[in-house]
Amino acid sequence: MAETYYKGMFHGTIPTVTTDPNSLEAEAKKYLSSRSYAYVAGGAGERATMDANRSAFRAWKIVPRMLRDTQPQDLSTTVFGVKYPHPLFISPVGVQQIFHDDKETGMAQIAAELEVPYIMSTASTSSIEEVAQASGNGPRWYQLYWPQDEEITASILGRAKKNGFTALVVTLDTFSLSWRPWDLDSGYLPFLKGQGNQVPFSDPAFRAKVKKLTGKEVEEDTLAAYAIWAKETFTMGGHTWDDLAVLRKHWDGPIALKGIQCVEDAELAVKYGMQGIVVSNHGGRQVDGAVGSLEVLPEIVEAVGDKIDVLFDSGVRTGADVVKALCLGAKGVCIGRPWVYGLGIRGKEGAKEVLKYILADFDQTMGLSGIGSVKNCDKTWLRRSTAPT
Ligand code: FNR
Repeated sequence: MAETYYKGMFHGTIPTVTTDPNSLEAEAKKYLSSRSYAYVAGGAGERATMDANRSAFRAWKIVPRMLRDTQPQDLSTTVFGVKYPHPLFISPVGVQQIFHDDKETGMAQIAAELEVPYIMSTASTSSIEEVAQASGNGPRWYQLYWPQDEEITASILGRAKKNGFTALVVTLDTFSLSWRPWDLDSGYLPFLKGQGNQVPFSDPAFRAKVKKLTGKEVEEDTLAAYAIWAKETFTMGGHTWDDLAVLRKHWDGPIALKGIQCVEDAELAVKYGMQGIVVSNHGGRQVDGAVGSLEVLPEIVEAVGDKIDVLFDSGVRTGADVVKALCLGAKGVCIGRPWVYGLGIRGKEGAKEVLKYILADFDQTMGLSGIGSVKNCDKTWLRRSTAPT
């Protein structure tokens, strides 16, 4: 990753996507349609949870130590018994075609090139099979929006397993989309429908259900198919903790629950036999006025960190953010909006640039702080600041 740094610092190479995390969103706004921009940059309500995510990072400060032998750095991490070269993961993000025609297949390809696990969303505009092919030998996990119908769930999970997805991430916080003013004001739902959710639409069990209920193929009445899919996945109170047994029946690999924001739920995840959790508030896109994700990470790690693998997302923008989340006990850190902006600016190559910058920044920050190895990350490198954030 040093290459990115040296190119800029010593060869005067101007990057094709800004390296400034604070300018990325504004740059992407120039390339995206107003509705695509609203979809990625917006959040729930007045976006107070998005602010809380950033404030939570700013509240922690790194305390660098000098004259430490940090070379060679070891940035690897082990999650679910598998060693990855760095602790970065690609957060699941739906409908990537609205940002660029490179969409999920392009993202899976560059993720494999960077050896960063690609977490594929159930709301993808590419099918499971297409993403697997683009990902090749790259590490890949599958994120589930959990259908009510067990047959459809089993069919989707079977396809994911058959196509080399090694871990399952079950998103719990989106059983209904939230009150998102920017999307509501831009009338986004018909717009998203136009993109085609290729996971259910290409699924034999879902297609059979649509045929049974409407007498038509999915392609003959996509609006009706969407309505059936929405009922399957976006149902308030549709599943409870005991239903996790159904998922276990159809998935024998590791399962991580995404959207955990309190100790009580983290402990339930352990009780119900899960292998991991993703501490996340969906990037402030679901509950407005909620606690910043990083705020709750330490207490959750304290309660369950020795029993299951804890991953983190929501608000990660810089290498220092990655260091902070690791020092507070995360085994892996997922990146969301930043690479989506890169995808909007210059397709998959833009997204790859953004991910490379975050990796390079992380690499630099680990060395300059004297930490060196991910294994050394713990709270002793941090101080909770009383200075204004
Ligand atoms: C998301 N996220 C998301 N999560 C998920 O489990 N399935 C999905 O399909 C999506 N789709 C999605 C679309 C867009 C445009 C965004 C920005 C986010 C949430 C995502 O996985 C992650 O939790 C957040 O992006 C983390 O917040 P930051 O760091 O991006 O602010």
